[in-house]
Amino acid sequence: MTEIKEVGLVGSGQMGSGIAQLAAVYGLDVWLLDADPVALSKATKSITTNIHRLISKGQLSQAAGNDALGRLRCSSNLEELRMADIIIEAIVESEDAKKKLFLELDRIAKSSAILASNTSSISITRLASATSRPLQVIGMHFMNPPPIMKLVEIVRGADTSDQTFYATKALAERFGKTVICSQDFSGFIVNRILMPMINEAFYTLYTGVATKEDIDTGMKLGTNHPMGPLQLADFIGLDVCLSIMKVLHAGLGDSKYAPCPLLVQYVDAGRLGRKRSIGVYDYRNAAERKGAEIPQKRKIVLKSNKAEDKSLNDPRQGKAKVKEAAAKVEDAKVEAAKEQKKDN
Ligand SMILES: NC(=O)c1ccc[n+]([C@@H]2O[C@H](COP(=O)([O-])OP(=O)(O)OC[C@H]3O[C@@H](n4cnc5c(N)ncnc54)[C@H](O)[C@@H]3O)[C@@H](O)[C@H]2O)c1
Repeated sequence: MTEIKEVGLVGSGQMGSGIAQLAAVYGLDVWLLDADPVALSKATKSITTNIHRLISKGQLSQAAGNDALGRLRCSSNLEELRMADIIIEAIVESEDAKKKLFLELDRIAKSSAILASNTSSISITRLASATSRPLQVIGMHFMNPPPIMKLVEIVRGADTSDQTFYATKALAERFGKTVICSQDFSGFIVNRILMPMINEAFYTLYTGVATKEDIDTGMKLGTNHPMGPLQLADFIGLDVCLSIMKVLHAGLGDSKYAPCPLLVQYVDAGRLGRKRSIGVYDYRNAAERKGAEIPQKRKIVLKSNKAEDKSLNDPRQGKAKVKEAAAKVEDAKVEAAKEQKKDN
């Protein structure tokens, strides 16, 4: 296997942009790709700010920072990834969307390239089955935020070769990460344990056991976690948490993994967490809250095949479901208005 010099990142959200930053800082050429140009420009801004912050803190020299920024290129065209030695996918947590992407990447990428997924829970074996190179498909699960968190969970699919595993492990270690290895079962290690806890925190809130603040304070001070589970859910993204719970529920077949209805409702209402400035908590300032719409999901169109990910545009698929979601957005607005009143 050739040395990894060029990395492709697909998906420039929280995870993709963080992994791109890490790869650029550690001396790799990076292509960062997203179907949504708004997401790409947001990612470029945040990577630039983060690198300047590292420079101003003395953690990176000016020259190294400039080099890192110079190594980063952005595009909405998948074809740019044809020379990448490894492509790490960090798009929406949907098996269908990821399989569609892996099919495309398999066509575009050079034959020696590794196709890695940053999935939190989806079967690597099934993603690999969408390609003609299952030996070179692997899970490379970074934690959020990737430049800071020390762990990478590597997941081998049924056919992942040793060569692919060792090349991926070496890359994670080059980024200064500690690697753990999981078998390919829904949720792997970290989310198999973490997500049911977050889901249970939602049930605790849903059934009126306590306020969100007391639930989070209880888990922070009572179990020495750096943040409470509801705060963490906002940080991860409630849509991501819900998708992972659905994968655990379907993949492990136990009703204990059924997503809490409150989590489902928040996602339906567009309350996705910090990335939308509202989730379990409201991060908008008073001016933003005044008459503000709950930010909705953007329309995603892939440049290379013009395929639309309908599940992103229409989360419940079907007009009736859209109507129902719109009603919930109204409810959420009322709740946001109440909270604003409380704050004033
Ligand atoms: N958020 C976390 O804490 C976390 C942690 C570890 C792993 N993950 C996993 O990483 C992946 C991404 O999560 P995130 O939190 O960064 O999501 P995000 O919503 O912040 O970003 C996803 C990005 O992918 C883009 N996208 C969607 N479909 C696409 C397609 N077909 N082609 C190109 N771009 C597309 C979107 O425009 C968006 O910018 C998911 O699989 C998630 O489970 C998330």
